[in-house]
Amino acid sequence: MNVISKKINGLRGEIVIPPDKSVSHRAALFSLLTQGTVEIENFSLGQDCLTSLDLIQKLGAEVERTCERSFKITAPKYLKAPSKPLYCGNSGTTTRLISGILAGQKFSSTLTGDESLSKRPMKRIITPLAQMGAKIKHSDFRLPLEFQGSDLDGIYYKSPLASAQVKSCVLLAGLFANGETSFEEPYISRDHTELMLQYLGADIIRNKTRVYIKKSNLVCRPLTVVGDISSAAFFIAAALITPNSDITIKNVGLNPTRTGIIDVLKQMGGEIEILNQHKISGEEVGDIRVKYSELKGTTVSGEIIPRLIDEIPVLALVATQANSETIIKDAQDLKNKETDRISATAKVLNEIGGDITPTDDGFIIRGKTELKGGVSVDSFKDHRIAMTEYVAGLISKENIEIKDFEWVNISFPEFEGMIERLKQ
Ligand code: S3P
Repeated sequence: MNVISKKINGLRGEIVIPPDKSVSHRAALFSLLTQGTVEIENFSLGQDCLTSLDLIQKLGAEVERTCERSFKITAPKYLKAPSKPLYCGNSGTTTRLISGILAGQKFSSTLTGDESLSKRPMKRIITPLAQMGAKIKHSDFRLPLEFQGSDLDGIYYKSPLASAQVKSCVLLAGLFANGETSFEEPYISRDHTELMLQYLGADIIRNKTRVYIKKSNLVCRPLTVVGDISSAAFFIAAALITPNSDITIKNVGLNPTRTGIIDVLKQMGGEIEILNQHKISGEEVGDIRVKYSELKGTTVSGEIIPRLIDEIPVLALVATQANSETIIKDAQDLKNKETDRISATAKVLNEIGGDITPTDDGFIIRGKTELKGGVSVDSFKDHRIAMTEYVAGLISKENIEIKDFEWVNISFPEFEGMIERLKQ
């Protein structure tokens, strides 16, 4: 489906941002391990999270939809051996997290995925899982992954990457391993796994960049998923760069391991105000008010990168509207996302009229450029690239046509409707 994004005269009003994708995945997957019934409120209806829901059913969970975004999940006494390969679609999070669960089971199972997921690197999880004793067949460290039932032993794993998916995979395997498992990363990546496992009673201890876990039974407690800051980022970006904008985004997850985008945009001069901050199911949440702002360039690198990794494409777009140069470094893992987001972002922003040079680990973006639009761009079958393009269209002189826009459904099916509601 091709979609046209057009110049608007501002965004104004209030929206409630839909549920967080990372937290929803964890709510579904961890419920499978509780041996009881967990009620989840505000679960993401993005395709990736529905994939996680589908897979837990194939492993024996009963999933009942009690309301539009509410589900009751009843875990089986013992996980069921799946009769067919488990299809993870486009979802890296499902694949990497469920691998930690499957590695420690007595039965065999196979994970497959779509074309993009089948190209993504799995060595990052195969290496630690193999050290724990997992037996995994793979295709040159890519999907399909075949797990043969094995006993696991706890390890200390020092990860070269700050990756929440790798960390979560190892911690989940640690729930089934003999002895203690500990994971250390160079910088703290998103910590939803640690918070939710703690909330569900796991034997887990944290010390800065290191986490320790032991075999534990998870208890059943209701889970409410907070709004997705990664989805909110498209609205924050759109309001900052579209003249005459003033919006309030309600119920946004403000976990400090995810708020790098707010820190950077404020540093660039963005008028962003956090209101009504409180906690839900162990996670920080609040409302964000954003107004159109004069922006200046900045440098983004190092420790903050895992705190805004998914927001970098739209941040690069914002940087085209800043009054000086922006440099983004240390983000080489962007090449391993749903598409190579360094080359895709640079290609698209240059086609639209930006001035951006891709580098090996990020970009140099020269601002301020007038976005001319008047082009038809590829979504690269990547939800975040498609939404970045749509936001660019809101300030471009001429329309932008986006090909295969339906890929936004991976994380944010409500996206276009919510822009419509705010646009002037
Ligand atoms: C995620 C972690 C990040 C992020 C992805 C979701 C998660 O990936 O890019 O969209 O839910 O754990 P990495 O852990 O590979 O950086």
